[in-house]
Amino acid sequence: MKINPFELERYFAKYEFAARYLLSCSDCEAVTMAELLELADPETRQLWEKLALGYTDSWGHPLLRQAISEIYQNIDAAQVLVAVPEEGIFLLMNALLAPGDHIICMVPGYQSLYEVAQSIGCEVSAWQPIEEQGWHFDVTQLETLLKPNTRLIVINFPHNPTGYVPSRDDFEELIKFARQHNLYIFSDEMYRFLEIDPNTILPAACELYDQAFSLFGLSKSFGLPGLRIGWIASKNQAILGRISRLKDYTTICASAPSEILAIIAVRQRQHIIAKQLKRIRHNLTVLDKFFAEYTDCINWQRPRGGSICFPRLLIPQNADEFCKDLVHDAQIMLVPSNLFKFGSQHVRIGFGRENLPTVLARFADYLSQRFR
Ligand SMILES: Cc1ncc(COP(=O)(O)O)c(C=O)c1O
Repeated sequence: MKINPFELERYFAKYEFAARYLLSCSDCEAVTMAELLELADPETRQLWEKLALGYTDSWGHPLLRQAISEIYQNIDAAQVLVAVPEEGIFLLMNALLAPGDHIICMVPGYQSLYEVAQSIGCEVSAWQPIEEQGWHFDVTQLETLLKPNTRLIVINFPHNPTGYVPSRDDFEELIKFARQHNLYIFSDEMYRFLEIDPNTILPAACELYDQAFSLFGLSKSFGLPGLRIGWIASKNQAILGRISRLKDYTTICASAPSEILAIIAVRQRQHIIAKQLKRIRHNLTVLDKFFAEYTDCINWQRPRGGSICFPRLLIPQNADEFCKDLVHDAQIMLVPSNLFKFGSQHVRIGFGRENLPTVLARFADYLSQRFR
């Protein structure tokens, strides 16, 4: 198998633990072990204390799958397969696609959502947004991207990197389109429940459509990326079975301690996510002030959900060069838009971390010194 390097991950590998100030992370503030264990109920505390470090059930711990299924309407534990989130993308694409298939994928986007399909020998068409309309992805455009061999639409709401969330009507139109043309949907919902306005939370795609696969996990909304726990939920159990057989060639099963900690987290999801969302809302007010003050340097479309936004640089330098200078001169890491296959005029700013106000202030100083 030949696959291009994952540019974003390579970039993080270079800078994440070398740069002092991270301003592009997509995950929320990490929950500590002590905080999480505080939230254990008597059953999960016992599971934790008596845990033997053997192999685990390949589909995921039964109590974990049960707790996960309760996040959804009309999805039961048998319709949930536990996998590392990134692994879920890799396995699902390999289970669904064959060389010569065509897929439609949102661009800009998280690279593996189209790169894995390309490595299989699929053709990829980019579904692109309209920046000036708050990064609106127009569902009526999908018709123009359709081909006789289209098999799959890949979506990701709240969207990495723009923070876009469609209206309920648009989302239902999209599902209707997939149903009419007999297409699978892969719905990456890693930032679900981080919608800024709770009235805009969409149903999971797997709740609305039998041929949809919803990916979710603990890395973003929960602030638990170190557990490496995610899952795919779908009513299509035949394909889930195919994914589980491929998983025998990747991780086989999840880490035993991670699964127990994940049961605690999923059972306490309301509490954990509410805390993350509170921080995000606060950080957004800090960003509002920053963008109002720096209109000569940078311009944003305020995100509707998630922990990231994708502002446009208005300075006389491209994003790639600017980010190199920034990390070199001020130790601040920002991700340029070429890593999302989207020109070189945007950068991704993450606002899920506690230190956002401090790092943003340093970034503001840097802009002032260099461009004013
Ligand atoms: C949209 C999206 N999907 C999937 C993932 C993969 O999650 P993980 O890194 O926890 O495997 C990420 C991580 O950045 C993401 O942004």
